[in-house]
Amino acid sequence: MGRLSGKVAIITGAASGMGLAGAQLFAKEGAQVVATDITVDVLREQVEEIIKDGGDAIAIELDVSKKESWDAVIEQTLAKYGKIDILVNNAGIHIAKGILEAELADWEKVMSINCTGVWLGMKSVIPHMQKNGKGAIINTSSIAGIIGGVSDAQGAAYSASKGAVRSLTKHAAQWFGKDHIRVNSVHPGAIFTGMVEKAGIKSQEEMGSHYKGLAPLPPYAGESMDIANAYLYLASDESKFVTGIELVVDGGWTTN
Ligand SMILES: NC(=O)c1ccc[n+]([C@@H]2O[C@H](COP(=O)([O-])OP(=O)(O)OC[C@H]3O[C@@H](n4cnc5c(N)ncnc54)[C@H](O)[C@@H]3O)[C@@H](O)[C@H]2O)c1
Repeated sequence: MGRLSGKVAIITGAASGMGLAGAQLFAKEGAQVVATDITVDVLREQVEEIIKDGGDAIAIELDVSKKESWDAVIEQTLAKYGKIDILVNNAGIHIAKGILEAELADWEKVMSINCTGVWLGMKSVIPHMQKNGKGAIINTSSIAGIIGGVSDAQGAAYSASKGAVRSLTKHAAQWFGKDHIRVNSVHPGAIFTGMVEKAGIKSQEEMGSHYKGLAPLPPYAGESMDIANAYLYLASDESKFVTGIELVVDGGWTTN
């Protein structure tokens, strides 16, 4: 028996980084995984690998900022697996522009994916979780939703969007606890992923060297599986009395 046996899990941003690690780990733990992403070619290749390794998964294209895209994912998920137990709202983008440098289009793009996307995801799955009598939702925020400075990598809208995810999570935890739906946020610190590679950093070690002195725990930057393990705990019944928490996975950065 896996820790997620019999559960159907939708994961957003599953083509890369933490979302991909989550999809791989959830499949190993027995979940039926609905892996979604806007970059669907890479996603399909990753899902083929999961299936080759004995997992049960499907790949579905999703733009988290579009309601009709969510509707299509829900329809296909129910057609294939018949229910939804878990949603991991992991997809996100970063634009390294501060309050003065950002244009309105930058602000709106980040907010529409990182914040509106999380709301749309919850709005789409909660009625099905209510019918199912339970559910677990995990929203990916950031330590940039808790503290400022280096942690937001000069992203004003990023920081605002992650703060919104933190408080929206607590709102949902309050209102849907009565339906046995648990809603928690995960707050990664510096984690070496595709997002970081796009910013020009080549390895976890290189990333760690930038954060030595901020995070006390070597190697000072984490890896995607560190976050996937947090997703797994919050998705599984091991956390059945846990809702509305901020699970910080940052090598101790926020103790600074
Ligand atoms: N890497 C870090 O240090 C770090 C730190 C704190 C929080 N986070 C958060 O963790 C989450 C995962 O990030 P990651 O580092 O694994 O990034 P990543 O870039 O490796 O993966 C993000 C995935 O989201 C997908 N995506 C982007 N826009 C989308 C959209 N509109 N609809 C659907 N999918 C979309 C991308 O195609 C990509 O596959 C994000 O929410 C990010 O903000 C990352």
